Amino acid sequence: MSYHNPYTPPRKSATFDDATLAEIRRAAATGIYDIRGAGTKRKLPHFDDLLFLGASISRYPLEGYREKCDTSVVLGTRFAKKPIRLKTPITIAGMSFGALSGNAKEALGRGATIAGTSTTTGDGGMTDEERGHSEMLVYQYLPSRYGMNPRDLRRADAIEIVIGQGAKPGGGGMLLGQKISDRVAQMRNLPKGIDQRSACRHPDWTGPDDLEIKILELREITDWEKPIYVKVGGSRPYYDTALAVKAGADVVVLDGMQGGTAATQDVFIENVGMPILACIRPAVQALQDLGLHRSVQLIVSGGIRSGADVAKALALGADAVAIGTAALVALGDNDPKWEEEYQKLGTTAGAYDDWHEGKDPAGITTQDPELAARLDPVAAGRRLANYLKVMTLEAQTIARACGKNHLHNLEPEDLCALTMEAAAMAQIPLAGTSWYPGKGGF
Ligand SMILES: Cc1cc2nc3c(=O)[nH]c(=O)nc-3n(C[C@H](O)[C@H](O)[C@H](O)COP(=O)(O)O)c2cc1C
Repeated sequence: MSYHNPYTPPRKSATFDDATLAEIRRAAATGIYDIRGAGTKRKLPHFDDLLFLGASISRYPLEGYREKCDTSVVLGTRFAKKPIRLKTPITIAGMSFGALSGNAKEALGRGATIAGTSTTTGDGGMTDEERGHSEMLVYQYLPSRYGMNPRDLRRADAIEIVIGQGAKPGGGGMLLGQKISDRVAQMRNLPKGIDQRSACRHPDWTGPDDLEIKILELREITDWEKPIYVKVGGSRPYYDTALAVKAGADVVVLDGMQGGTAATQDVFIENVGMPILACIRPAVQALQDLGLHRSVQLIVSGGIRSGADVAKALALGADAVAIGTAALVALGDNDPKWEEEYQKLGTTAGAYDDWHEGKDPAGITTQDPELAARLDPVAAGRRLANYLKVMTLEAQTIARACGKNHLHNLEPEDLCALTMEAAAMAQIPLAGTSWYPGKGGF
């Protein structure tokens, strides 16, 4: 005989919540793991958990409309004969042709060039559209070696050796067959229409000593002109930064777990890596311990959305930031104007993340010629340039309010933390105190 308790309403489990139950059912029905694009969707300690302490009596603000606040940055000052000079510290992160359409890559180049910043190739080689429309182009050198050739190394303005990405430290790339068009197949030397998983380890090195040799090799090929960046996913930022610097990097790129991806297993995106907030201070500490903070530049990324995020990253010690997801949104990704089509794909604007399927209504994460043609690279490039301008102005406004005549003069003392987690991770005192967990004493 069953007993129904009329006094207690039915109660769902917090552990086995609706999303968990749905995922178990999906896995049981299909037998394959879930792949998707974009970054982690769980809530993590982030820049929102930090606030600026504007100047008052003890600090003197700068006059917004009369006193200058410089936003420029030079990357690659350690060894390169031709460092990269940017008007804004906001760069465009590496996103591959293959993951993105040719028009999207062109739009990124156009937008970055108007804003006076650099853009970056990705796990698929360099396209002519992208090179042609990017005044400063960073060329990624990845474990897959797709599209890699010495000619393009020399056509680049800087080289970024990718060890890992924040969305999947330890994991390699994925490009599903739907997106392997004739052109993508030809550029990557792959069969058309067949799923590919690219390597997670570089084929010709197993550790930091080999990395040093590789960096020297790349410098020789490019006549010691180009800055060499090393990109790592945020997992052990102190040691990874120290080892990259020891191996000879001019610039370290550190991508936290909020960082976007074109296609990765959901379980990876949500469970591997550390939030960028927890990565910056250890990386800066490594540079300081080596006496190279500001001589080797640090670019950070992972969930950067606004000028406030930029200013906070710089105040924690970064020299520049990189954006991926936000740049795609500025181009037109997830725009509600495509809502009807998102609904047909079983999703909604703001949640569309099946970037691996190549059916993007906005024409950005696709190789379908009809969909790709929907994105006007000139108009999209202009939108990106506007967005970069707004973010730069926002960061400048905050820096002036903190009394700084250069964004790089922002410092940890300009910040306070709203939560214990953020205080501990960013080593910034909890608001109203002079203490953060791990500092000891009050
Ligand atoms: C569509 C897409 C494609 C990407 N492709 C690459 C890639 O080819 N190589 C790489 O190092 N990172 C790649 N990334 C990661 C970005 O370079 C960057 O680390 C990340 O997007 C930064 O985080 P954000 O998206 O929150 O700004 C990709 C990201 C996206 C969104």
